[in-house]
Amino acid sequence: MSNKLNIDWNDFLTNYWQKKPVILRDAFSHFVDPITPDELAGLAMEEEIDSRIVTNKDGKWDAKFGPFIDFSNLGEDHWSLLVQAVDHWHEQAATLVEPFKCIPQWQFEDLMISYATQGAGVGPHIDNYDVFIIQGMGCRRWQVGDRNPNYKQFSAHKALLHVESYQPIIDEEITAGDILYIPIGFPHNGVSIGESLSYSVGFRTQTSQELLSGFADYVIDNLPNGIFYQDPDLKLPKDPYRVQPYELEKLQNQMIDLIKNPQLFNDWFGKHITIPMHELNILPVEPTYDLDEFEALLKSGAKLHRVPSIRIVKIENAGYIHGKKIPLPIEVIDLLCQSETLSYDQLHHEETLKVMLHFVNCGFWYFQDQE
Ligand code: SIN
Ligand code: CO
Repeated sequence: MSNKLNIDWNDFLTNYWQKKPVILRDAFSHFVDPITPDELAGLAMEEEIDSRIVTNKDGKWDAKFGPFIDFSNLGEDHWSLLVQAVDHWHEQAATLVEPFKCIPQWQFEDLMISYATQGAGVGPHIDNYDVFIIQGMGCRRWQVGDRNPNYKQFSAHKALLHVESYQPIIDEEITAGDILYIPIGFPHNGVSIGESLSYSVGFRTQTSQELLSGFADYVIDNLPNGIFYQDPDLKLPKDPYRVQPYELEKLQNQMIDLIKNPQLFNDWFGKHITIPMHELNILPVEPTYDLDEFEALLKSGAKLHRVPSIRIVKIENAGYIHGKKIPLPIEVIDLLCQSETLSYDQLHHEETLKVMLHFVNCGFWYFQDQE
């Protein structure tokens, strides 16, 4: 069973992507929930999975973080359970992100699923990411306001940043198969009408602050020799206390030259952007396979599966996975990106086998029957 998405992507990107929110009615016709509330609760009991329960009983907001052992004291209404990165842990739920794989994958964050009871939600807030909220079982009323840098935000609870009241530009109920797309920065509030499930496919980019800080760390670790400012054409200045405009420009260029060094920048970005945003289901092999064992397994017909939602990207002729460079030709990297399942005939080249052996031992790909 797989849900089929009907979106005219060109129209969507031209008119809505990062521009304005929209409801795409019946984007999934005959939507079938890929997970049950009980299964979601089971995931929220796991140590490595991020989850929270938000309650708003009698107007009082509260948030608790998982793992949870018991859901019996929550009552009938005004609470919701939110589980992050379900695509990393639940194969059927992960199929929901497939139709969004046409969007640049380096920007994909995760599939968050929320189960909500009557009257529940997380309150009016603004997110730092773009999100497609797919309505599953049940119904939610969404009020979305316009983007405005002057909205005041406040903590309704230490873990819940809310936004002051806003004039909705969308105020509608959505039902199974509808999608609400909300770009970064638009305030929104979803309130469950009866029991409901919703699926948030999130896309996140990085701030200049995060980029600069990540790049600076990389440069410090990878360029051990200091690059010093130098000015061999120096003339005596009128005012030696004044940093001159041409000197400021040389300083800026000194920094920009590093960012513009393609090898340094690309390698940093490939490694940096493939670092996971949420824990992954990676199990390093113990004891490790040796090359003969590995090749024999593949030859016997065993297939390799890529860890669900492990981050993999291509930059120019290089590939990166989970913070590491993939030392293989681009043709093989194309294959590693495109196919989530691989067999011997695709990997039989000696160099490819050696590199894949290393990544399999790290746990980035695995044989299905391996426990
Ligand atoms: C929810 O699914 O309950 C919250 C999603 C959101 O508003 O970001
Ligand atoms: Co939100």
